[in-house]
Amino acid sequence: MSAAGVTLNRHILAEERRYPDMAGELSDFLSQLGYVAKILSREIGRAALVGRLGLIGERNPTGDPQKKLDVYANEICVDAFARSGLVAAIVSEELEEIKQIPGAGEARYALCIDPVDGSSNTDINGAIGTIFGLYRRKNGDIAGDVLRRGSEQVLAGYVMYSTSTMLVYTAGHGAHAFTLDRDLGEFLLSHENIRCPEQGHYYSANLGHYQEWNPGIRACVDYLTEQDPPTRRPYSLRYSGALVADFHRCLLEGGFYFYPPDNDHKNGKLRLLYEASPLAMVAREAGGRASTGREDILGVQAGSIHQRLPLVIGSPHEVGLYEKFLAG
Ligand code: F6P
Repeated sequence: MSAAGVTLNRHILAEERRYPDMAGELSDFLSQLGYVAKILSREIGRAALVGRLGLIGERNPTGDPQKKLDVYANEICVDAFARSGLVAAIVSEELEEIKQIPGAGEARYALCIDPVDGSSNTDINGAIGTIFGLYRRKNGDIAGDVLRRGSEQVLAGYVMYSTSTMLVYTAGHGAHAFTLDRDLGEFLLSHENIRCPEQGHYYSANLGHYQEWNPGIRACVDYLTEQDPPTRRPYSLRYSGALVADFHRCLLEGGFYFYPPDNDHKNGKLRLLYEASPLAMVAREAGGRASTGREDILGVQAGSIHQRLPLVIGSPHEVGLYEKFLAG
């Protein structure tokens, strides 16, 4: 069947048979996510007109300055998923502690979410995103329900707000993308079963920290920027300041993104539960890879909800290259 005109809801219904143990919850979750993405897409689009740009003057639990949109988007996400009855607990970049949802003690899932990824881009009309990972609860203590390995996610993905709004998800059977038709108010399937190229020509990193990186990583960058046409070097640099946007390029066109430890971020900058693990699951489902440089992201056991770690993600060839340089 042609993918043309397939709505998110229709796609989920067709996929449902693959997930008998989710008993309709996959549809409920993705429908709610689609709803959240539409609200955020609208509100991000008009933030400049309703006084919702700029800082609020506070820092989030991991010390980053909070933007008005961070706080607003967090409220939308928490409220929408709390009302869904699907999740008992939410970990959010914007919340100090795990949010336990009142009256949802029986709910079977726990959600990890970054409501606005790349918030330094909000005030310059740049691309931003929402990243999410969903876990089935173990029915132990609530901390045990969220302190998990990425390999245990049942569903993960992101929404990217850019020239169009796109929702990318995987539930373990490929990664699929839906583009919001703003006139219809529907997400329509635009990229079915995405395949990340084995090798690409782009690299994406904040090179301002080059001097602070491990010598192996500096050697890798030197290799990427050497002139050697037979191996298609130099690579082209693309860095938007939003992980979602930079990863999305790697996913569709190949290449890699990395954020290594530096002087200000001794353990790396990105957060395991609501940044690295969800994107790692999407990468894996599309044939890409994600690693700390030494270990598969999906195998990393979370020790705390806002845990940071180094991340390299994208095409298998470049992720492998980075690991080799890092190993020396
Ligand atoms: O905190 C996450 C994030 O905003 C990513 O989306 C992005 O890739 C990175 O941080 C940007 O960090 P920096 O401004 O240090 O390059």
